[in-house]
Amino acid sequence: MSINIAIVPVAGLGTSVLPLTKSQPKEMLAVGRRPVVQYVVEELASNGIQRILFITSQGKSSIEAHFDIDEQLIQYLRETGRESNLVELNYERQNIEYFYTRQRRQLGLGHAVLCAQPLVGKEPAVVALGDSIIGRRASSDIVSRMVDTYEAEKADAVIALEPVAATDVDQYGIVDVSETNQGLLRIQGAVEKPAIDQAPGNLSIAARYVFSPAIYEALQQVDTDRQGNLQLTDAIDYLVRQGANVIGVKLDHDVKRYDIGNFESYFKTFLEFTLSDPEYGQGMQDFVRQFLQQQDQPNSSEQQE
Ligand code: UTP
Repeated sequence: MSINIAIVPVAGLGTSVLPLTKSQPKEMLAVGRRPVVQYVVEELASNGIQRILFITSQGKSSIEAHFDIDEQLIQYLRETGRESNLVELNYERQNIEYFYTRQRRQLGLGHAVLCAQPLVGKEPAVVALGDSIIGRRASSDIVSRMVDTYEAEKADAVIALEPVAATDVDQYGIVDVSETNQGLLRIQGAVEKPAIDQAPGNLSIAARYVFSPAIYEALQQVDTDRQGNLQLTDAIDYLVRQGANVIGVKLDHDVKRYDIGNFESYFKTFLEFTLSDPEYGQGMQDFVRQFLQQQDQPNSSEQQE
């Protein structure tokens, strides 16, 4: 794959899930057995990415530590006969080089991406949000499909898309698309969190992007929103208006985007990953069934209180 670099923004404040994020990064929250950002990195590695540039910020150093090779821990596990746990550290040995730069003020996702420009601004790059897993256990091939499309169509940008309920469009970046004769989805416009009655459709931007360096120029041209944030969606819209070739690629119908940036979606993601855990899933399902049955009984302890 010709594009082998991904920018992973992890610098946001995560205020929607306070107090969880007061002193730990949102991207390090546990989902089943792993922190969210590990799923993101594993997905990128399995899609041919070999260099990752994290856009980090104050309070995010545990992300860097998570991807270090911890020789002391490895030695400790060996010396104490816990070799079987070593397999859990295999991700440290993935064929990935890590780079880090800081977003010194949290001025939005678009601003975070712009922080990558001095380092990788001359080459096309994948952007993958550090708080969103694609596919159960990060099994999706969407990034390679997007890179293939980027090359085959000589695109300026390729955006991952997922249909959402018409009543939820106000929580996402939403695109307007037209389908070409060859079945390609050409993006005609993009709007961040539109009012439900003003959304151009129900296709949401699903946390994965491929951009040519034109995105940096676009980010410099667009205005910040009312909260002072620079929105990546606005820069995509700007590219489209400049006549750029911006294409959408839908997630496979059995692949979901799991965004852990709000409690409802974090809880659902945690539950789904836990209930489908290869080792503990069956037991967890039995536990939940039993719990729900108890809740349904008229004189369950909660209802007696
Ligand atoms: P969100 O849009 O959910 O923003 O981030 P946030 O600021 O973390 O969340 P709230 O609104 O305060 O709850 C999507 C991804 O973009 C990164 C986040 O770390 C997350 O991985 N991001 C967001 C940045 O890197 N910098 C920013 O200024 C904003």
